[in-house]
Amino acid sequence: MDLGRLVAPSGDLASEDAQQLRQDFTRFMMRYKFGIDEIVTKLSILRDEFAHLHNDNPIENVSSRLKNPESIIEKMSRKKCEPTFESIAERITDIAGVRVTCSFVSEVYQVFDLLTGQDDVRVVDVRDYIKTLKPNGYRSLHALVEVPVFLSDGPVPVLVEVQLRTIAMDFWASLEHKIHYKYRQDVPQSLLDGLKDAADTAGALDDTMQRLHTEVRTAGELPPELKAKLADNHDLSPDEEFVKRLRQLGHS
Ligand code: GTP
Ligand code: MG
Repeated sequence: MDLGRLVAPSGDLASEDAQQLRQDFTRFMMRYKFGIDEIVTKLSILRDEFAHLHNDNPIENVSSRLKNPESIIEKMSRKKCEPTFESIAERITDIAGVRVTCSFVSEVYQVFDLLTGQDDVRVVDVRDYIKTLKPNGYRSLHALVEVPVFLSDGPVPVLVEVQLRTIAMDFWASLEHKIHYKYRQDVPQSLLDGLKDAADTAGALDDTMQRLHTEVRTAGELPPELKAKLADNHDLSPDEEFVKRLRQLGHS
């Protein structure tokens, strides 16, 4: 599979070569889409399981994106990547991207552990920009993982870049991204300084929220009378209904 054919002398997109290449490219990209599906499903299972078992949800939001062809070409030229699918797969490691936002920093690490601890998830690289933030203030936990995707002719390993961050980190990163998009390389110093300040504030907010969260969690059980009141007040969930009926059955 040689992408060099894309710049064949005739440049004729209708040529047999070009059509074959288009098919190859579609197949190449499909694997990454499936890789995203695998990771998103894993996260969705974790999320649902947490909601049911712990009445808690460490995952606030999951989004994903497949890198568009234009960005792939741009990154290939920036990284001087050979025009072959093999080189692209090796050098452009963020074709499949998944972003997870959590409320608290502890949850970011918790989700990371739960995801990367799974047997079929191979961790290729971890960049912890929470522990060591980027000079501009960017914070996030990046995990480059490889998951098997089962195609008709067997499993293929696919790379997926997973970015995990808090809502505050995400808020900051979206604005920073917009500013850079607008000004390209020429972001005014005052804006850069402002962003750095905002990053510090976001970091301080995360610290405070984490402290409060931990405090509430370790404060112990609800008082028994409040627990009873809450139990009386809510409709029974299907599993509660099941247990109640089963007990009644046992006593009849
Ligand atoms: P890229 O060539 O941009 O992929 O960078 P890299 O290969 O050195 O990887 P890095 O871990 O630095 O960044 C990967 C991705 O993280 C980027 O594509 C962005 O989505 C995100 N990211 C990294 N740094 C920043 C930043 O300073 N601001 C924002 N908004 N996002 C960032
Ligand atoms: Mg990138």
